[in-house]
Amino acid sequence: MDAIRCEVLAKGAEAIIYKEVWYGFVVIRKVRIPKRYRDPRLDRILRVKRTINEARLLYDARRLGVSVPAIIDVSIENTTIIMEYIEGIRLRDKLNSMRIEEVAKTMRKVGVLVGTLHNNGIIHGDLTTSNMIISKSGNIFLIDFGLGMHSDDLEDIGVDLHVFLRALESTHTHVASICFRQFLKGYKEVMGEDMMKKAVNKVYEIRARGRYVPPELRK
Ligand SMILES: Nc1ncnc2c1ncn2[C@@H]1O[C@H](COP(=O)(O)OP(=O)(O)O)[C@@H](O)[C@H]1O
Ligand SMILES: [Mg+2]
Repeated sequence: MDAIRCEVLAKGAEAIIYKEVWYGFVVIRKVRIPKRYRDPRLDRILRVKRTINEARLLYDARRLGVSVPAIIDVSIENTTIIMEYIEGIRLRDKLNSMRIEEVAKTMRKVGVLVGTLHNNGIIHGDLTTSNMIISKSGNIFLIDFGLGMHSDDLEDIGVDLHVFLRALESTHTHVASICFRQFLKGYKEVMGEDMMKKAVNKVYEIRARGRYVPPELRK
């Protein structure tokens, strides 16, 4: 590794994120680390699979014009992706202190990005505001595609949106419904009204399923 300065930016459940200077560029090195409780062979397979998956989806999303970090290098051997560092703040850390007009504008942009992914058969897999970075100029970048997949199945689309809505409700409780409404405006711009409605209905269907309690467990 030819990096000079290096700092640990985040330690997630499955990866360590380093910020480094690499040949003069500020980059992120995302290293998927072994989990001791998993069988070592299975662990390696999972880490390799998710690394390839994330790199592939980042590449595909970028080709669609969705703002995501550019991939600079991938090492399957070290289950590592080196990608462009996105200067900004996680939306999770910014949203609650934003003016409401700004929240609306931002969520609409997120809707356009996610709509573009879904419209082209890409499921993000972990849509939360921790996986969105907002730059100084207000551009939104999507990161963390490790759990994503290629699919245009309505069920997968619904689950992606369901995860997002749940994240909004738990992290940005007071503005969650405004956020989702604005998000859907942007989403509709890309997906069209008909598909947007189908996707939303799916989200409510999934929610209802989640609340279903079998008769034998009812009080
Ligand atoms: N390309 C990037 N540019 C800037 N910050 C990043 C980048 N990738 C990751 N991060 C930071 O590291 C954190 C964790 O990265 P992420 O890819 O979401 O990994 P995890 O799978 O652990 O959630 C993000 O929330 C963000 O703060
Ligand atoms: Mg993440």
